[in-house]
Amino acid sequence: MIAVALMALLAAQTPEQFFDRKVAPILTKRCLPCHNKDLDNAAVSFQNPATLKRVIVSGQPDQSRLIETLRHEGGVRMPPGLPLPKREIKVLREWVKQGAVFGAPLR
Ligand code: HEC
Repeated sequence: MIAVALMALLAAQTPEQFFDRKVAPILTKRCLPCHNKDLDNAAVSFQNPATLKRVIVSGQPDQSRLIETLRHEGGVRMPPGLPLPKREIKVLREWVKQGAVFGAPLR
């Protein structure tokens, strides 16, 4: 059901709008504090999309290190502490699946 709702949502907006409305709030709140232009842990900065090339395989969430860290199963677990709620992981998976397109730069 969630997948159906997500598809309906996606159909109604461009990839840039999906990023701005659904993805950016998650990244800004959960990841940006440790992965920004001044503090780029593991050389990952959500303010510099080029740094994500190493950890995102566009269109392939299951091949993407970034998504792997969200599962909290391996050695590197993101964010540190508690895992994200399932619905937020779903949004980030969907974003990678759709090509990890950026909208407005994060600030
Ligand atoms: C409290 C600070 C903090 C937060 C919040 C945080 N990270 Fe990290 N992140 C780190 C640190 C420190 C490392 C390097 C850790 C390591 O390699 O063990 C890292 C490494 C990574 C890596 C690289 C893994 C690798 O194999 O090189 C990815 C991808 C990543 N984080 C994604 C995220 C995402 C996505 C979020 C938000 C959901 C997030 N991080 C939130 C501190 C944080």
